Amino acid sequence: MATTTTRFGGNSAVFDGPTGYAGVEAGPEWAEEILRLAKAKNATILAHNYQLPAIQDIAHHVGDSLALSRIAAEAQEETIVFCGVHFMAETAKILAPSKTVLIPDERAGCSLADSIDAAQLREWKAEHPDAVVVSYVNTTAEVKGLTDICCTSSNAVEVVESIDPDREVLFLPDQFLGAHVRRQTGRTNMHIWAGECHVHAGINGDELTARSQAYPDAELYVHPECGCATSALYLAGEGFVPEDRVKILSTGGMLDAARTTGAKQVLVATEIGMLHQLRKAAPGVDFQAVNDRASCPYMKMITPAALLRCLTEGKDEVHVDVATAERARASVERMIAIGSPGGGE
Ligand code: 13P
Ligand code: SF4
Repeated sequence: MATTTTRFGGNSAVFDGPTGYAGVEAGPEWAEEILRLAKAKNATILAHNYQLPAIQDIAHHVGDSLALSRIAAEAQEETIVFCGVHFMAETAKILAPSKTVLIPDERAGCSLADSIDAAQLREWKAEHPDAVVVSYVNTTAEVKGLTDICCTSSNAVEVVESIDPDREVLFLPDQFLGAHVRRQTGRTNMHIWAGECHVHAGINGDELTARSQAYPDAELYVHPECGCATSALYLAGEGFVPEDRVKILSTGGMLDAARTTGAKQVLVATEIGMLHQLRKAAPGVDFQAVNDRASCPYMKMITPAALLRCLTEGKDEVHVDVATAERARASVERMIAIGSPGGGE
């Protein structure tokens, strides 16, 4: 049943079941109110590159997972409003435990983070007691607490390279990012968990091949979580697409590449929210999605109504219990210490 939670102008933010908070238009009145509330509450608004355009445009900082973690760790404001998914807000809370961390809708989860839990990781570690555990930041706080070093897609290769080559590595949970890291590092003593993000795994090689044939002069930007990352390298390896036109990049890396590209057209294999920042970064370039249905339903739960409710009511607050946060902090701090600045910093 829909319940009115926040009144604003002629609108109401409503709780709308699984589709999230709705009923507020992201016009100038909304933007003014969001910025007024953020200032009054001494809050900084962080938004991931996959957020809705209106949320990206109102945020104080927009970036990839690594950049936003670093910004959260350094934030001067009392409150961090994290417009992203739950594990990102949890990571901010682990790095800045004295701050109030809010997420506009705590139901914004992640299918990749759900692909391994703490019990499964404990069992896996027991099979490889001497291995170093590297977890992608897309994991729960409990899993991070069982991890040696976290990574994001922009520093995963550097994180694995930082580990003694003689030590076994358990890499989790994304199998496609794991395969990318194995290719880049040439490491053979690396075990990879068979998890995936349902949004990125759905961007497949057939689609990528068809799109690159339709746009033969385009560059390809492929997120390493994609099921088609291997196909992109195959296309390059077989000479269908010149090798220097295929780039496997984090979302922040895509933005850096966009700012300096000489290409007129770029095909983008990742969540479609990314196109907004890319088009802003390089307005003269034609960015096209490889799969325009690749929209993350969790990221899109952070609606204008949800952000308004969040700042008005101070909800949803993110809590990580003290013991879990303490266990997880070292692995997350190692993550933010490795790799060059991510997009957004
Ligand atoms: P990055 O911003 O680190 O590339 O992460 C992508 C992602 O899927 C986050 O959920
Ligand atoms: Fe998780 Fe995939 Fe959504 Fe990123 S795009 S938040 S990995 S479900």
